[in-house]
Amino acid sequence: MSSYIVKGGQSLEGRVKISGSKNAALGVIAAAMAVDGPSIIENLPEVIDIHLLLGICQELGAKVEYLDNGTVKIDPRTVNTSTALLESVKKLRGSYYLLGAFLGRFSEVCMYLPGGCNLGKRPIDLHIKGFESLGADFQMTEDEIISLKADKLQGASIFLDQVSVGATINIMLAAVHIPGTTVIDNAAREPHIVDVANFLNTMGADIRGAGTDVIRIRGKSVLPANRTYAIIPDQIEAGTYMMMAPLTGGDILVENIIPTHMEPLTAKLLEMGAQVEEGGDFIRTYLPKGTQLKASSFKTMPYPGFPTDLQPQAVTLLCVAEGSGRVIESIYENRFQYIDNLRLMGANIITSGKLAVIQGGAPLYGTPVDARDLRAGAAMVMAGLVAEGETQVLNIYPIERGYENFIAKLQALGADIHAEGPTAVRPAW
Ligand code: EPZ
Repeated sequence: MSSYIVKGGQSLEGRVKISGSKNAALGVIAAAMAVDGPSIIENLPEVIDIHLLLGICQELGAKVEYLDNGTVKIDPRTVNTSTALLESVKKLRGSYYLLGAFLGRFSEVCMYLPGGCNLGKRPIDLHIKGFESLGADFQMTEDEIISLKADKLQGASIFLDQVSVGATINIMLAAVHIPGTTVIDNAAREPHIVDVANFLNTMGADIRGAGTDVIRIRGKSVLPANRTYAIIPDQIEAGTYMMMAPLTGGDILVENIIPTHMEPLTAKLLEMGAQVEEGGDFIRTYLPKGTQLKASSFKTMPYPGFPTDLQPQAVTLLCVAEGSGRVIESIYENRFQYIDNLRLMGANIITSGKLAVIQGGAPLYGTPVDARDLRAGAAMVMAGLVAEGETQVLNIYPIERGYENFIAKLQALGADIHAEGPTAVRPAW
């Protein structure tokens, strides 16, 4: 099993260039399968999940050409099936975006229920409710094969009982082709929702209101595409590096970002006593010499609230802050599993349901830990950066699903980290 070996004690200094957003890229790649012509997508992050979804598109008959680092051309016109009963679909939760893409294009779709990080039960009832509102009949077999069929799809008004990134994107992917107007109310507002909507509009769709909680989609019979689109920078990758500066007493310039996407974290870092300097497409974070980070409280919320995908990293940051911090995880029912590992390292953390209370200042000691999911894995590396001695982070596959060139970027910032065992095999780009 591959692992990262981290030696603590270095303060991270320097610049780091943020890659394209994994979660935007997954929606945009699926959207490229929903339109009626070729599209060129730039600034894709070279991470496992992106290669997995591109591979699924190829298995379904689409032409996928790797034009350059992070640039692909996808032509869905050669897709000859609406059935995606592929083993690869089970490996990636984001593959479920093909439900919306194919329902809108073919009025039917059949595929396995997708997998994804082990963040507890991750239903897709809101997605299905949206598709049924558009006129689809839903069935699921006992071996978790999903089938959606529609004699006639028609735009509809859909109220999402709970804010859901995936359901918002999936309904949008179906609605762009469906006659009439579809309104998604209580829609998610994440930056990657806006990115998928902008991609679709670039390819000929008519979507208004993405980024607000009401999105209107006027269905079109043909989306000609034949345009180029660049993915936005990764808000979560950026936030992970932004926290590493005050965590290690360093000074990091996080480049190629959209500062407004970082506002929930920027506000918290300032509250904790870190310095945050913003530019047009960069943010510099550091801890003024001689100052001590102060504990604060976080509650994860849908955007523009504090992102749940930065929660494990924030808990780790609170381990080195002065005082007692509180974190409420309101999106997932059990996103604190990784805290056992932080306790193994010496952290003083109590959890009860959705609440974690972190007593900062307890020294951390290096020891073998494992990456429970993508963001918890990044948090283990962060803890290793400030632990005494050596930390071995086992099972790094989840980390490599979503952080491009993680080791190289950390080494460039001065981290003493290296990989042991075969790191993710990335197909030639
Ligand atoms: C997306 O997952 C992200 N994944 C997740 O990032 C992120 O944590 C999440 O949004 C929240 O921001 C991708 O974009 C590929 P949701 P998604 O639908 O779409 C419940 C990472 O680390 N729910 O907004 O699955 C659900 O159980 C990953 O990059 C339903 O109940 O999230 C959760 O509690 C981890 N029924 C809440 O809503 C549904 O039909 C939010 O889920 C759908 C969701």
